[in-house]
Amino acid sequence: MRRHCNAVLPTALLLAASAAAAQPVSSPPSDAQVKARVDALLGQMTLEDKVGQLSQAAGISFGGAPGPEESLRRGGAGSVLWVNETKRFNALQKIAVEESRLKIPLLFGLDVIHGYRTIFPIPIGMASSWDPSVHERAAEIAAREARAAGVHWTFAPMVDVARDARWGRIAEGAGEDPYLGAAMAAAQVRGFQGPYLGAPDRLLACAKHFAAYGKADGGRDYDPVYVSETELRNVYFPPFAAAARAGVGSFMSAYMDLNDVPAGANPWLLRDVLRGEWGFSGFVVSDAFGTANLVTQHFARDGRDAAARALGAGLDMDMASGTFAKNLAALVKDGAVKEAQIDEAVRRILAVKVRLGLFEQPYADEARAAAVLADSKSRAEARRLAQRSMVLLKNERQLLPLKASLASVAVIGPLADSKADTEGSWMVFGHVPAAVTVLEGLRARLGSAKVAHAPGPEIRREVPSFFDDFIPGPKPPKQTPEAGEAAFRQAVETAKGAELVIAVMGERADMSGEAASRASLELPGRQQELLKAIVALGKPVVLVLMGGRPLALEWEAANVPAILEAWQPGSEGGHAVADVLFGDVNPGGKLPATFPRRSGQTPLYYAHTTTHQPEGSPMYRSRYWEGPAEALYPFGHGLSYTSFAYSNLKLAAPQVKLGVAVSVSVDVTNSGGVAGDEVVQLYLHQKAGSASRPVRELKGFKRISLKPGETQTVSFSLGPDELRYWSSFERRWVQEAEAFDIWVGTDSTAKLHADLAVVR
Ligand code: BGC
Repeated sequence: MRRHCNAVLPTALLLAASAAAAQPVSSPPSDAQVKARVDALLGQMTLEDKVGQLSQAAGISFGGAPGPEESLRRGGAGSVLWVNETKRFNALQKIAVEESRLKIPLLFGLDVIHGYRTIFPIPIGMASSWDPSVHERAAEIAAREARAAGVHWTFAPMVDVARDARWGRIAEGAGEDPYLGAAMAAAQVRGFQGPYLGAPDRLLACAKHFAAYGKADGGRDYDPVYVSETELRNVYFPPFAAAARAGVGSFMSAYMDLNDVPAGANPWLLRDVLRGEWGFSGFVVSDAFGTANLVTQHFARDGRDAAARALGAGLDMDMASGTFAKNLAALVKDGAVKEAQIDEAVRRILAVKVRLGLFEQPYADEARAAAVLADSKSRAEARRLAQRSMVLLKNERQLLPLKASLASVAVIGPLADSKADTEGSWMVFGHVPAAVTVLEGLRARLGSAKVAHAPGPEIRREVPSFFDDFIPGPKPPKQTPEAGEAAFRQAVETAKGAELVIAVMGERADMSGEAASRASLELPGRQQELLKAIVALGKPVVLVLMGGRPLALEWEAANVPAILEAWQPGSEGGHAVADVLFGDVNPGGKLPATFPRRSGQTPLYYAHTTTHQPEGSPMYRSRYWEGPAEALYPFGHGLSYTSFAYSNLKLAAPQVKLGVAVSVSVDVTNSGGVAGDEVVQLYLHQKAGSASRPVRELKGFKRISLKPGETQTVSFSLGPDELRYWSSFERRWVQEAEAFDIWVGTDSTAKLHADLAVVR
């Protein structure tokens, strides 16, 4: 029976409201304790209070609409997003915990994606480290900073597998591979949430965007996704399942139609798979305005229909659209929605608030926030993690590392001295870019006198980003063609005067990320033309790439002797680039996504199934008559200033029984002259089965450091988890008694091979 109670809760239950007295929770409450508190709260809530908890309000106002204050006073929202100022967090929280009837604290959510004050490389960069501890550490520091400032909940990690580089949000994830993606997803959850949900200095994490958002038709953001169950389960789900296993407290549903049913109102996805199969017990939030969009997408008839169907499908919180707030209470009163359904969602949200310790400590401490945000140790970590993220794509005749004795260097390109583009996409509201640029990093390393700079013609999106409206300050006017031409000439002149040229080119921050798809993957603007003019000078040229996606660099790869992929390297990016270019640090990153030769090859990924004309067969050449069909730089590729030799690939046994694990070992030797890191990668291929299997699948990796001459034996275990797959023929997970190829090596084209037989 529904209870309407106007009395305030007993203080023992709420304990809220005093910033000074409250202490952070230092150990997690038991499930029973959480349940008791949630039950007690729920018993005091009106239907309207409950709907409030399922509604997330925007902290900024759109089109002159009022802010959330009045609604919060009425208990009209349980969570607020898009606020990023400690004073304002506290002011809004004060309304909730001191002025609203039930005094339930607000949950503040924000996109803390790759750093809060200290900015780390964008996620595709951190995934390039092939070192989950990079992501974990960055998330831990971001959590500490953001939590101190007053944020409770980050809309991260984004764990969407992305195999189409045209899709701009490939920048926000771990690339094309489910196995690498799963490792990076779990690492971020550990980093953001810590050892348990509610651990001090940590955030509630959110695995997004569930699911298969990265498979948008044509790489166009938000476009529908048609994907088989096989591909969902074998490719797109594993990072989400890994996040769930790691204890992530929330999920965000994706915007788009998934096989014609929007992900945010898809009962199979949100109830059957997420809760039923994976046992996820946290809550699910829609993407921004996603519930209202169910009408725009021609799925729901109207807001009422949208609210009923989203809630019914298993969505717990409506982000910013007001659709739950407007419709749910009436739906219950009409009997169209059962209050028990609402209670179920409210319970999940309140349980998270209890676990986070918000009732004990609803406020942020402004003095502490200032101290945490000023911590300079975080910058040192940003430099180290950026160093680990960089991928050396090409290094002809060992042009790199550069010698400090260089007489003069010209640093050319529109990204060389841009703080915002060095930090990259997804900066939190109000963040002032403060990165060390590549130009600054090189000047710090070589002394300003030796380093000349010219940006060349500007690059900009032909269609501006709607996110530009959120960036404060005046927008620079578009460069005129004449000014662009003058900048081009000046860049070539500057290059002429130097002993060596470092071209810093790629994409600006707003060219990847949300609503930033591209139909072509070449260097935008006149960058390639400028690079050609510089290469024609006959000087050594190093290309430092900055951006958020794999690019099609066929000409550059053929004509520029050294190429370093720096992604968007964050606060200390310029120093980290200099560290790598001058060999203070030996690069060890590897590509988490295939680089195509030409845009038209996309989507291009290594783990495809084979055809009746397999790679290597004479007929295979016919794939594209304009040129090779293979990648320019394969998945897993990345060079070093040293070399590595692989030998002694051994299986503990050539045969293994179904359900039993076998160990695989290989000796890796640093056969070059300097210390370096290698990412040892294991791929397998099931030769036959109830369904066709990919030509290769990553099933193990390990980043190791070796001194010159040193050898390390690296071992992997292949068990049922690695050897099973979801069979579209059987329509279930299977492990089959079949023959397997195993390869171990430096990238996805590894040649060192062994046979494995799985037997009954
Ligand atoms: C994005 C999400 C993000 C949300 C809140 C949406 O537009 O798709 O990734 O978390 O906004 O800012």
